[in-house]
Amino acid sequence: PLVSMKDMLIKAKEEGYAVGQFNLNNLEFTQAILKAAQEENSPVILGVSEGAARYMGGFKTVVSMVKGLIEDYNVTVPVAIHLDHGSSFESCAKAIHAGFTSVMIDASHHPFEENIATTAKVVELAHFHGVSVEAELGTVGGQEDDVIADGVIYADAKECEELVKRTGIDCLAPALGSVHGPYKGEPNLGFAEMEEIGQITGLPLVLHGGTGIPTKDIQKAVSLGTAKINVNTENQIASAKAVREVLAAQPEQYDPRKYLGPARDAIQATVQGKMREFGSSNKA
Ligand code: G3H
Ligand code: ZN
Repeated sequence: PLVSMKDMLIKAKEEGYAVGQFNLNNLEFTQAILKAAQEENSPVILGVSEGAARYMGGFKTVVSMVKGLIEDYNVTVPVAIHLDHGSSFESCAKAIHAGFTSVMIDASHHPFEENIATTAKVVELAHFHGVSVEAELGTVGGQEDDVIADGVIYADAKECEELVKRTGIDCLAPALGSVHGPYKGEPNLGFAEMEEIGQITGLPLVLHGGTGIPTKDIQKAVSLGTAKINVNTENQIASAKAVREVLAAQPEQYDPRKYLGPARDAIQATVQGKMREFGSSNKA
């Protein structure tokens, strides 16, 4: 069923695993991720960036597509539809009214007081509708859609504590060296800060930029209170590789089902692997 992230993440933190957020790009991504979740008997968060929502038609299209597939595929595991990196109160409000069950308000690039004010406003509306809220502090590196980071700034523990106290968010994404897109070399995550922020806030933490983080770092992050890990690029790479392989072997092929079907299978396999790695399999 469609649910918010709240209970999913509290349970994950208590039991020592992380729920994956896998980003939607089109119908095939949605099919693959829902199938993977059902197959693994795992809770799942469907991440939808503003850019991806625009690409697919809009928030309403996304909600209808997800609801349709949940019925057609008889999906029984908990599923959240989550706005990823929501850029404004207006955008979060639109997603909530379209039926999203969770939103991220990413006002991390604004001054601290402005971040708090916007986040608090989103929380008030969201909680009224039973929708969960994620907020961010610091800067995630790399680029995602319209969000380009010009420098990686680590989240500050005192600011995290204050943001949580003054807004009532459900989970927090403290940027601690993670990057959107592939890493140049090994990621260098701020685990000491992660531990401090996890303890000081008491909230489930979110790790953005999940693509390319080694398993030992994933396990360490989970042990320090990370209960949600976002992955997009790795699925995009897997699906593009499958399309290239089919079209290279069959240059005359024109039926989209013949190249997007294998792409869908590749995404599903990638997601199932992540669910096992994150420990969310059989936790539905
Ligand atoms: O918000 C989405 C992500 O943080 C995904 O990061 O594309 O590096 O896996 P990624
Ligand atoms: Zn992100």
